[in-house]
Amino acid sequence: MIYSRIIGTGSYLPARVLTNYDLEKMVDTSHDWIFTRSGIVERSFAADDEMTSDLALNASRKAIEAAGISADEIDMIIVATTTPDMPFPSTACILQDKLGIRNGGAAFDMQAVCGGFVYALNTADMYIRGGQARTVLVVGAEVFSRLLDWNDRTTAVLFGDGAGAVVLRASDQPGIVAAKLHADGAHRHMLKSDPLVSMDGKAVFKFAVKVLSEVVEEVLEEQKMQGSDIDWMVPHQANIRIIEATAKKLGLGMENVIVTVANHGNTSAASVPLALDTAVRDGRIKAGQNIMLEAVGGGFTWGAVLIKW
Ligand code: ACO
Repeated sequence: MIYSRIIGTGSYLPARVLTNYDLEKMVDTSHDWIFTRSGIVERSFAADDEMTSDLALNASRKAIEAAGISADEIDMIIVATTTPDMPFPSTACILQDKLGIRNGGAAFDMQAVCGGFVYALNTADMYIRGGQARTVLVVGAEVFSRLLDWNDRTTAVLFGDGAGAVVLRASDQPGIVAAKLHADGAHRHMLKSDPLVSMDGKAVFKFAVKVLSEVVEEVLEEQKMQGSDIDWMVPHQANIRIIEATAKKLGLGMENVIVTVANHGNTSAASVPLALDTAVRDGRIKAGQNIMLEAVGGGFTWGAVLIKW
């Protein structure tokens, strides 16, 4: 039986950090309003000449180094992004070139907005289990700052830029144990970019808590596990109140939840791998633990991935 295991993680945040106090100078808002409603303190914004592929490259190099492999061993690249460098070529192809990979492996982008990383990770797992790939670089990378409408203070203050990456490799030991993905296009108007982001915040909030707790339960039930079996939940970092409400519904204490939203804001497809890398590098995530990733995004798309670390 072939499984896939994460053998390295990496992440990258652009150098330009904006606190809520910096945003007070840009829109009619306050640190207290932003912090109370979202838990966000600061976020990073890419420089004008910094593209999604540049953020992805920095995160990928760290993941490849942590995995202890050479880039040429990567036979597939999947980049989850809502903000590709350009309509085509894909950001994954650009990243492949920037990494100097010349082995003819496959590369493609995945678009499921904030749900993108769990979609991409599940897809990579399927390719490895099916024997069509052996070493897959899975990246979530966004320059969401370029989609923000600074005339809409309710949404503009919530997002940031960044990238996270993992190297997934075929193994005879599980790794990725289970995953469930869902979508419901009927709710596409609740959160969209046309071309700038607009959102019905209250509706998104309720929907997110409902589907995130449901999909985590679905994975747990399939594995005959309970919330108390999760060592760490690594949620999409949209909003601390969504994270807390979801954990509460699952009967999970916040001491079992990785939270980075204060320093990252909502980085869309980058948020889960950014949080994962943070907790791997600071030693909270350890071998043998049960790790539950979950995310929801515009579309709507949502999903969960259970990993035996
Ligand atoms: N600063 C100061 N005041 C503001 C701001 C701001 N940035 N934005 C709105 N306000 C004001 C409004 O004008 C309103 O004032 P009024 O009462 O005088 O009319 C007041 O604050 C309340 O506005 P609401 O829109 O009702 O604010 P709410 O309490 O619903 O909070 C928020 C808005 C934070 C967006 C909330 O609905 C939420 O957390 N939604 C979840 C959405 C989310 O996190 N999405 C992430 C993206 S989705 C994803 O990743 C899947």
